[in-house]
Amino acid sequence: MALTEIAAGLSFQLSEEQLAVRDAARDFARTELLPGVIERDEHQSFPHEQVRKMGELGFMGMMVDPRYGGGGMDTISYVLAMEEISKIDASASVCMSVNNSLVCWGLQTFGTEEQKQKYLTRLATGEIIGAFCLSEPEAGSDATSQRTTAEDRGDHYLLNGTKNWITNGSTASVYIVIAQTNPEKKHRGINALIVEKGTPGFVVGRKENKLGIRGSDTHSLMFTDVKVPKENRIGEDGSGFKFAMATLSGGRIGIAAQALGIASGAYELALQYAKERKSFGKPIAEHQAIQFKLADMATQIEAARLLCLQAAFLKDQHRDYTKAGAMAKLFASQVAMDVTTEAVQVHGGYGFVKEYHVERLMRDAKITQIYEGTSEIQKIVISREILK
Ligand code: CAA
Repeated sequence: MALTEIAAGLSFQLSEEQLAVRDAARDFARTELLPGVIERDEHQSFPHEQVRKMGELGFMGMMVDPRYGGGGMDTISYVLAMEEISKIDASASVCMSVNNSLVCWGLQTFGTEEQKQKYLTRLATGEIIGAFCLSEPEAGSDATSQRTTAEDRGDHYLLNGTKNWITNGSTASVYIVIAQTNPEKKHRGINALIVEKGTPGFVVGRKENKLGIRGSDTHSLMFTDVKVPKENRIGEDGSGFKFAMATLSGGRIGIAAQALGIASGAYELALQYAKERKSFGKPIAEHQAIQFKLADMATQIEAARLLCLQAAFLKDQHRDYTKAGAMAKLFASQVAMDVTTEAVQVHGGYGFVKEYHVERLMRDAKITQIYEGTSEIQKIVISREILK
């Protein structure tokens, strides 16, 4: 199928169901997430109640098969919902993205039937939340250099090490932990293990004091002689790195949609402000200096949205979406930085204070260029795909 065909289909033919999901997410974000979002950012408080409601509405396991309690929706619906939630509260949307893309999708695609019955059914409904633990103090971008070890002890693994910057770090009940079992086999010796909170030797460490997405709970995690039963390994022995890479490929679509939402949220605020705020005797929207900014912002957002939807479309069609997902994330995260910075500029002095939301969106935008692979990592992924 030609790219233009895909783009045309996406631009103009969102289904009634997809539009209904988008509208439900928009309503939820405005009525449930907007009140208190500034205070949650200020005090770094996790939106527990709001995330619980997101589970009730089906936003925590959107693409999971209904047999396991999920919404059975497509990736396009997920992108639309992520954009709407992220317009208002990117801290809530990163929790949603990790649970949907990295935890539920990974378990549904690679987990055993027992793992799905035991964990996925509760994760997909939002009854419990999951976390994905790959990053380490000395292994962020260089994901093969895992120092956390999972020693094979017959019927169980003995897990030792530290994970850093883990989203849902203290809120999660179930953690997918990537660890090295056979160092001599390098990345082919890595395993992905399901670890339950409360397992002896597993301690939730320090909470990070962050620039943005301050309502999300980002922690380090420590594992000391944690016994993990063999049945908690996801996939074959040594398949953990491929599991992580495949999971992150889909995760990048979610973060791209988050970046898109942060940008479009800031743009909508700037547009509204520009129509209301007067200077030199007329609304600032009538000054060409502001009109050019709005035109650039709208254009960038539209391009980012098409890249996000294209990646989602390819995933839904079971086609290769690695390059498309990385392109969407690379581009949308840059758009998020550019558009939020311009939205602050359009607001002038008001943009620099908390009540107008755009300064928070500008701070939230930065992480989209860092987590689930930095922009530089996306360029590595894209160039490898191009040169393959
Ligand atoms: N799907 C399946 N397998 C894949 C894959 C994919 N998308 N990409 C790579 N692989 C496989 C390769 O086929 C290869 O397997 P074989 O050797 O058996 O053939 C294996 O993985 C190793 O691949 P590479 O040689 O390409 O590995 P590399 O060491 O060169 O690294 C990389 C590639 C792209 C740089 C990778 O390390 C990477 O993506 N790093 C970034 C990690 C990252 O995103 N970290 C963020 C943490 S998670 C997070 O932020 C979550 C959160 O809380 C929000």
